[in-house]
Amino acid sequence: MRNVLHFIVVTILVALVTVGVYVGLTSLGLMPPEASAQSIPIDGLFDLEVKLIAFFFALIMVPMVYSLVVFRRKKGETGDGQHIEGHTGLEITWTVVPLIIVIWLGVLGADNLRQIQSVDPQAIEIGVIAHQWDWSFQYPQGFDSDVLYLPVDQQVVLKMQSLDVIHSFWVPEFRVKQDIVPGRIVDYRITPDLIGDYTVRCAELCGLHHSTMEKAVKVLSQADYAKWLSDNTAKAIAQATAQAGHPDAGRGQVLYSQMGCKTCHSLDGTKGIGPTWKGLFGSKVPLADGTTVTADQAYLTESIKVPGAKTVAEFGAGAMPNFGLILKDSQIADLVAFIMTVK
Ligand code: CUA
Repeated sequence: MRNVLHFIVVTILVALVTVGVYVGLTSLGLMPPEASAQSIPIDGLFDLEVKLIAFFFALIMVPMVYSLVVFRRKKGETGDGQHIEGHTGLEITWTVVPLIIVIWLGVLGADNLRQIQSVDPQAIEIGVIAHQWDWSFQYPQGFDSDVLYLPVDQQVVLKMQSLDVIHSFWVPEFRVKQDIVPGRIVDYRITPDLIGDYTVRCAELCGLHHSTMEKAVKVLSQADYAKWLSDNTAKAIAQATAQAGHPDAGRGQVLYSQMGCKTCHSLDGTKGIGPTWKGLFGSKVPLADGTTVTADQAYLTESIKVPGAKTVAEFGAGAMPNFGLILKDSQIADLVAFIMTVK
């Protein structure tokens, strides 16, 4: 009879502690606001896991503390405790029950992944370039932006590329986090559903300034986004018309820093991961196949667009991404104009 009483008391205490831990954890407000359609199933799964964590914490701690207090050795008690050996029923229970829970969580996780990756054929594409240590955003209308503008309630697919090492795209309010592996284009789908200002930060240790690799993200109403897009498209067309046939070394110098060229190509003759740009224009470049080529505009343009076309002696092939996929022809012309000035 006394054993039943202990069991009832412990069961009630486990229930109370479970509720207390769950309410305590969720009232701390540790999660940022939900700002995407994808964050709802993710937070649902997270909430379920916190409930399970609260229950198992109580299930372990309550019987332990209860036993320490209630079953203490009484004063004057000198005998050994009761000897207990094995309990097949209990062994099977605590093997099968966790197995079912883990499989169940696996199924829920897979279903969650299916929900957050569901494809909307109307999704708009935006290019994302990550490099040490910055982000830039390319709109298919032909312009770049320093801020990632997104329309609310519209799925976007970010086509993400890294120019150097692995970075990771993370807006905590969107919940979904995605690594960007150099050498491939990685898709990231999100449907922002809350107008506001956010920050994308890099979530993969990527070198010295990893901690400052941040850029603003603004989610606008559909009308504001349409206006911003048309304003910038008009500006981009006007700029492209003005720049057509007028490569500019100044703009090329900005791209040299912005696009990460400086990581591998020095301007002072120092040998880096790639050949220095000092005195490069017009020089004779020895190639890996034993031939020599003159570094004229055509060679420089080709080497930026498709670096694998001609491999320079003493430098490995495949170290440089195909910037033809990332830069516009006018930008490559600007870079070549800049290289021509580095004497
Ligand atoms: Cu990029 Cu950390």
